[in-house]
Amino acid sequence: MEIYKRLLGYLKPYRARLALAVFCTLCYTLAHSLVSVTVFIVLNGLQNKDYVVFGQMPKLGFLERIHLPSFELPTLQFSTSLVPFIVMAVFLLRGFFEYVSRYQMSVVGLRAVRKIRDDLYAHIVRLSMNFYSKGRTGELMSRTMYDVNVIQAGVTDVFVDLVKQPFVILFQIPLVFYWGGPLAFIALVIFPVVLVPVVFLGKQLRKTERKAQEQIANIHSEMQETFSGMNVVKAFNMEQYEVRRFQVIHKNVFDFLKRTMRLTIIQRPLIEVIGAVAVAFSIWYGMRILPLDRFASFLTTLFLFYEPLKKLSKANASLQQAVAAGTRIFALMDEQPKIKNQPNAAPLTPKIQNVQYQDVSFAYENGKFVLQNIRFDVRSGEIVAIVGTSGAGKTSLVNLLLRFYDVTQGRILINHRDIRDYDITSLRESIGLVTQETFLFNASVFENIAYGRLNAPLEEVKQAAQAAFADEFIQLLPKGYGTVIGERGVTLSGGQRQRLSIARALLKNPPILILDEATSQLDTESERQVQKALELLMVGRTVFVIAHRLSTIQNADRILVLDEGRLVQSGTNEALLKEGGVYKRLHDLQFNV
Ligand SMILES: Nc1ncnc2c1ncn2[C@@H]1O[C@H](COP(=O)(O)OP(=O)(O)OP(=O)(O)O)[C@@H](O)[C@H]1O
Ligand SMILES: [Mg+2]
Repeated sequence: MEIYKRLLGYLKPYRARLALAVFCTLCYTLAHSLVSVTVFIVLNGLQNKDYVVFGQMPKLGFLERIHLPSFELPTLQFSTSLVPFIVMAVFLLRGFFEYVSRYQMSVVGLRAVRKIRDDLYAHIVRLSMNFYSKGRTGELMSRTMYDVNVIQAGVTDVFVDLVKQPFVILFQIPLVFYWGGPLAFIALVIFPVVLVPVVFLGKQLRKTERKAQEQIANIHSEMQETFSGMNVVKAFNMEQYEVRRFQVIHKNVFDFLKRTMRLTIIQRPLIEVIGAVAVAFSIWYGMRILPLDRFASFLTTLFLFYEPLKKLSKANASLQQAVAAGTRIFALMDEQPKIKNQPNAAPLTPKIQNVQYQDVSFAYENGKFVLQNIRFDVRSGEIVAIVGTSGAGKTSLVNLLLRFYDVTQGRILINHRDIRDYDITSLRESIGLVTQETFLFNASVFENIAYGRLNAPLEEVKQAAQAAFADEFIQLLPKGYGTVIGERGVTLSGGQRQRLSIARALLKNPPILILDEATSQLDTESERQVQKALELLMVGRTVFVIAHRLSTIQNADRILVLDEGRLVQSGTNEALLKEGGVYKRLHDLQFNV
């Protein structure tokens, strides 16, 4: 019920269009029910040659005796020359109103769905990092594309049929009586019986559909993974393996879709068979009692009367699917971002005095601490290097500063104030990040560097690129700064990509800079150059450098040594070497002492 309400909420802005659509639907159904009238006047005209006459119901023998309500309508007579015009008019009106009503309904459906998808995407993008760390890309894509499409089918088809068909049924009822007289009762008695399987199958359908859509999310994940890791797939000759994996998942989807299909398809024949019993019974009597014109119109009406039931059952199936999709979509929309602004969050001014980690502990998952009791102070303008073995928690440590995650225990202060009390936008505004895995967007070089400051003048972008030693190779690209970088930056080398992402951080010109292995993919020569650029860049900023290569961080003001989530040593290069311990061991390993 809740889901229906929320879905209907998306239709609210289009009340006027919907009203027009409903009005036209009404006109359509009126014209539609006149079809049996045209059948009558054509046959009646054929019999009488010169005129058409709507006469009284003939006497129906035994049925008269059970005192069914009888009604008398005035006889009506007109020339047969009018028949073609009447037929034309009926179909013209029907066609026109069908067009307008369907078109309006479809537009409303499309618009509502566009809004849902836009809202969903906007919501997903605002969710916190913890939401994404579970590798749910495929699932999210499936939600925004497939599920929203299912809703669209639901909204458009369902709305068209759910509004239209009841009217069609309603308008047929007097006509069934008009043409068939008391015979109509036989046809109507069967009517409710037809609804039983519709309701039952609808429930089954919703269950199967839910499972099918889970599997479809898996397909998306599989594809996303294979396509983005294509180099690994090929290098390890795993094409065949991936194809087979895809086929297995796809088979699951197929099985569920097959069941969904069967449930959807069975409804129609089932209704037809039950309906046919009623119709057959009526025909049996009707053939003997009713004149040809009346009998033909009666059959037509019966057909028009049962036809909507089939459509309704199909609409019911779509509705069940849409509700299942809506349930998942709204569940996603109800997901709250974990990292939020406090009610009275203050903006962080670009003037940084100090950064303090006070007994910070952190766990991605409950109980599994990856950082424990980290405590250190950094003054403005200081360059702090963070070293430690892989998995020691270096990236996690700096991610906390950006509030990708919030600390589990302890607190982080900037200018003596907890970072959770700052406005998140202003906090991130103050921090430049060069990530460990460089990520470039499928956009021009210019846009990739100016990401975050898209209105930056070309001159500034160039300066940033020069400082990152990227300008040179950018000039050699086919369209220079306008060159669009292929998917995941395939047209650039690892080092070139890294320099672009350094330029990106330079252009932002933030007071705090985080370099996570910023020079790891550069050769010794470019590393030396980039190192120089970074040294220039670091001047006047508070910098956190993470590096495996200890040669790159020897001039740091201070080195923090992490080991299994604990801060085990801190000091200058010389002091730490004298001290021995983890740092000395790392150092000796690298320099082969
Ligand atoms: N999103 C995540 N969810 C759960 N655990 C994570 C997540 N990211 C990292 N971890 C775990 O946290 C620990 C520290 O990871 P982190 O990435 O901080 O290490 P690191 O010091 O940066 O290593 P490297 O030098 O290899 O980059 C690891 O044990 C890792 O498995
Ligand atoms: Mg790391």
